Amino acid sequence: MNYFEVYNQDSFAFLKSLDDESVDLIVTSPPYFIGKEYDKSNKIGDFLDIHHDMLPEILRVVKGGGSICWQVGNYIQNGSIIPLDSLIFAAFRCDDLILRNRIVWTFGHGTHANKRFSGRHETIMWYTKGSNYHFDLDAVRVPQKYPGKRHYKGPKKGQWSGNPLGKNPSDVWDIPNVKAGHIEKTDHPCQFPVALVQRLVKALTKKDDLVIDPFCGSGSSGVAALLENRNFLGSDLSENYCEIARTRIQASQNGTVRVRPLDRLVYIPSAKEAVAIRPPHFFGKIEEEGEVND
Ligand SMILES: C[S@@+](CC[C@H](N)C(=O)[O-])C[C@H]1O[C@@H](n2cnc3c(N)ncnc32)[C@H](O)[C@@H]1O
Repeated sequence: MNYFEVYNQDSFAFLKSLDDESVDLIVTSPPYFIGKEYDKSNKIGDFLDIHHDMLPEILRVVKGGGSICWQVGNYIQNGSIIPLDSLIFAAFRCDDLILRNRIVWTFGHGTHANKRFSGRHETIMWYTKGSNYHFDLDAVRVPQKYPGKRHYKGPKKGQWSGNPLGKNPSDVWDIPNVKAGHIEKTDHPCQFPVALVQRLVKALTKKDDLVIDPFCGSGSSGVAALLENRNFLGSDLSENYCEIARTRIQASQNGTVRVRPLDRLVYIPSAKEAVAIRPPHFFGKIEEEGEVND
């Protein structure tokens, strides 16, 4: 049986407690320092500083060939967007790390902006420690749009051209974010969906590997790890979130956890559904948007 542990500890102390080259995958979403209840400050410099400080420990604990995935969004300063992945790119620039993908995670719901286009994506920076790394593409292939396509010329003319296992999921992932009403929602204010981590765990690690998350919040990374028969260690400064995480990860082990499956398609309402029908006063007008969640 796989093991897990969630420590009520600072991320730096947690990383310090781990053995050299013991981790196969670090996957996390750090605090963005944007004034959330758990942010120590709202200074962008602090975001950069913790990442500069953490890098040597990250490099120490991750195995050669292991992966590092950092999921971030934007910081807004005086109305100007600072993409946090640009700061991660700067902080993690070193000879030992190779940036393999900047994955765009897109989602349908969130605050409607009225002075810019509404934000509907965040990113995941995927690095490997060195060049001899594990990447199991077959574990994460998705169905082709045109599976019935055939080669139209050359020696294979007339034969099916697609891989029967499916196609590469690409670096743009459309996975619903965890808002009220999502099956995975807990009291944590900004969970990422389990499916987002599940795809990384499946592709970047093997059965019984060790996955860690130093800012584990409600434990979504741990849920993904245990569901995929990997081991997990995590830390969070809030004992309340640690307790939520332990309960969810234990439920993954027991087979009772509630998650949105990775392969479930994004829901598109049928034209006949009441919520999809335009009310009479919409006709001839442009819908006005307010600062509300949809
Ligand atoms: C963006 S949230 C992570 C949410 C998580 N991915 C999930 O799905 O629930 C960041 C988390 O980092 C925690 N945190 C903030 N500063 C920390 C620190 N110095 N050490 C450990 N955890 C910290 C916060 O309590 C918060 O739960």
